[in-house]
Amino acid sequence: MAFLVSNTMTSPALMVLLCCFLLIANGAHQSEACYGTNQKLQSLQVSAPANQPYLTSYHFRPPQNWINDPNGPMYYKGVYHLFYQYNPLGPLFGDKMIWAHSVSYDLINWIHLSHALCPSGPYDINSCWSGSVTILPGDKPFILYTGIDASGQQVQNLAMPENLSDPLLKDWVKFSGNPVMTPPNGVKDDMFRDPTTAWQAPDGRWRVLVGGQIDNEGMAFVYWSWDFIHWTKLDHPLYSVQETGMWECPDIFPVSINGTIGVDTSVLNPGVKHVLKTSLFSDKHDYYVLGTYDPQMDIFSPDTDFHGNSNDLRYDYGKFYASKTFFDSAKNRRVLWAWANESDSTQDDIDKGWSGVQTVPRAIWLDKSGKQLVQWPVEEIETLRGKQVSIHDKELGSGSIVEVSGITASQRLSSLTLLGLIHNNYAMIKMHQSKADSDLSVC
Ligand SMILES: *[C@@H]1O[C@H](CO)[C@@H](O)[C@H](O)[C@H]1NC(C)=O
Ligand SMILES: *[C@@H]1O[C@H](CO)[C@@H](O)[C@H](O)[C@H]1NC(C)=O
Ligand SMILES: *[C@@H]1O[C@H](CO)[C@@H](O)[C@H](O)[C@H]1NC(C)=O
Repeated sequence: MAFLVSNTMTSPALMVLLCCFLLIANGAHQSEACYGTNQKLQSLQVSAPANQPYLTSYHFRPPQNWINDPNGPMYYKGVYHLFYQYNPLGPLFGDKMIWAHSVSYDLINWIHLSHALCPSGPYDINSCWSGSVTILPGDKPFILYTGIDASGQQVQNLAMPENLSDPLLKDWVKFSGNPVMTPPNGVKDDMFRDPTTAWQAPDGRWRVLVGGQIDNEGMAFVYWSWDFIHWTKLDHPLYSVQETGMWECPDIFPVSINGTIGVDTSVLNPGVKHVLKTSLFSDKHDYYVLGTYDPQMDIFSPDTDFHGNSNDLRYDYGKFYASKTFFDSAKNRRVLWAWANESDSTQDDIDKGWSGVQTVPRAIWLDKSGKQLVQWPVEEIETLRGKQVSIHDKELGSGSIVEVSGITASQRLSSLTLLGLIHNNYAMIKMHQSKADSDLSVC
């Protein structure tokens, strides 16, 4: 891992104290069954093959193949669930994408279960794409997801757990009346996807957003339902912006205006503001804006102009896309997941047999200024800290390299402290046998 330390000062001498905590790779178990009839739970210890020194072990990732968007994250009866877009057949995006399913008791150690949703009916035979979970009264989690139907159009479908007494919710049953939403008039068949977690407005009706586009205007359609099964589209979108193209994976959630405590998605009172996030297909970035949700009109009024471009706020300025939050009732926090691709070439993905990770889950809340969000890796991440490495009194000459030995790429720096004056244009801190990692935090 080579970090470029740069600054604008020019005098030659410096002293440096390097302090790093190494994260220890976490174990996981997995199962692999989608196209077979036998969806049974299997266990398999995952370890980085010797010929893959760059395989990450602390980010969420299945043992092999392609992954993308996080789907339906939730906390339910003591268990964290993460579903995600997965190609069970290989390391590239596929034409039969499914919902893989993993569970955890601590957001760190994950158990891979059998796949939750696989193409099976005319309403999703060509893929089960992204969506969300809503926990209905009576502790009933419902999945709303996008199916690519037999004619290739994007429709929204429902699925429910087969056995609500099973805390792992291993088996899911698709609603016999699927699809529950089809592309509205004037919306192209392939511009209608990624339903959000639904929320219940004070009138008792459920609302859900679906991402889309009409002409080049990106938008979040609103649907209403009393029973979660029959959905009616409102005439106007919740919010739309000209010239932004397709809005993928919209997310809408309230944040407390006072403090870091997260709130459930239906909470609506003077103590909260709303966040609207869209993932812009055109530039593969997630943008958000703070504003006010009006439950009578079902419109969102942003506090500041929102353009869907570099003038807007982003959660993250690195590889970070298709993010989704959930309310964690165990710790009263809102947690953010996102997909990060490693930007490898297609050939590299084929050679290594996998592509994509989920970011480290982060708690997210409103800054004191009320003008932007603040995030921090969930506190559970600290349980991965292992050996601390300290390097004292090391002189960093201009363009020099400092090697931190004894670290492999399946570990990483979780924090790096440079104390002392750096009077160079730059120096290199080189980690033995590893490569750049976007999650480095320098403090
Ligand atoms: C439902 O799950 C519970 C808890 O795992 C189990 O005891 C019960 O047998 C399951 N019921 C069915 C019908 O599978
Ligand atoms: C903000 O939170 C603090 C601590 O919980 C509380 O004492 C105070 O009344 C809150 N202020 C508002 C405006 O809600
Ligand atoms: C994934 O990486 C490739 C290569 O850098 C990039 O072109 C693409 O936009 C990335 N996709 C996302 C969603 O970040």
